[in-house]
Amino acid sequence: MPWTDRQQALLQAMGLRVWAEPEHQPAPAVEAEAPPLPTAPQAAPASAPRSAPVRPLARPPALAPVTQTPAPSLAPAVAVHTATRADLASLDWPGLRSAVAGCQACGLCSSRTQTVFGVGHTQARWMVVGEAPGENEDLQGEPFVGAAGQLLDRMLAALQLSRAADGPPERSVYIANTLKCRPPRNRNPSAEELAQCEPFLVRQIELLQPRIILAMGRFAVQTLLRSDEPIGRLRGRVHHYQGVPLVVTYHPAYLLRSLPEKAKAWEDLCLAAETAEASAA
Ligand code: URA
Repeated sequence: MPWTDRQQALLQAMGLRVWAEPEHQPAPAVEAEAPPLPTAPQAAPASAPRSAPVRPLARPPALAPVTQTPAPSLAPAVAVHTATRADLASLDWPGLRSAVAGCQACGLCSSRTQTVFGVGHTQARWMVVGEAPGENEDLQGEPFVGAAGQLLDRMLAALQLSRAADGPPERSVYIANTLKCRPPRNRNPSAEELAQCEPFLVRQIELLQPRIILAMGRFAVQTLLRSDEPIGRLRGRVHHYQGVPLVVTYHPAYLLRSLPEKAKAWEDLCLAAETAEASAA
């Protein structure tokens, strides 16, 4: 079926070219990703995936602007070395940020410039979870500020979503990484590092209570879904993390190297948008 004008505009905003050739169908799914880590941090499943068919591209939801600012918090900061979920359970956003900044739970604390906590509206409806800070993120203290981040921002903008901390929550995205510190030379996170850092991400999700989580790449998926399945087998349906709908997609750094997968990532974002809209109804 040909792209509608609306879909073409959105795809163009993402830098996709497929819209220009409406008769061309994306190639069948090919698993071109690196193999999963041999060890997941824990074995117990954290979600009960339910099957849902891959959905066709859809128009993004109409989102009403709402002016709302996050409530200030006065909870004290704590210094955390090896944080447990119980340690963090009472922390609000500033307290959690301080706990992350003081974390020395793994060796990454000795090589980081700074921790990279997260960015966005603390009442955002969407939460995007990536992997770990890279060099630019380590220097600037914000997730996804490099080329992969620019692609992510364009994809979000195509759905009228933004990482701005002061916009309407309905159009806002909170972005966090699975790891809050940069692994040296951008190596893959270790299972131990993922496990040590996980309580921070868990608390961020608890505080945000998003309507939808977009898990990008295999480390976010391993942490949130306890799954070593390739992204290509997990995407296209709605999973759940602690009751929150979760959609799996490719990491934007992978999309930069594998342009054909961009169309699939767009489908994933549309599925996430439909799911967020449905959970708001
Ligand atoms: N890749 C990630 O997963 N996170 C970042 O913050 C940057 C690149």
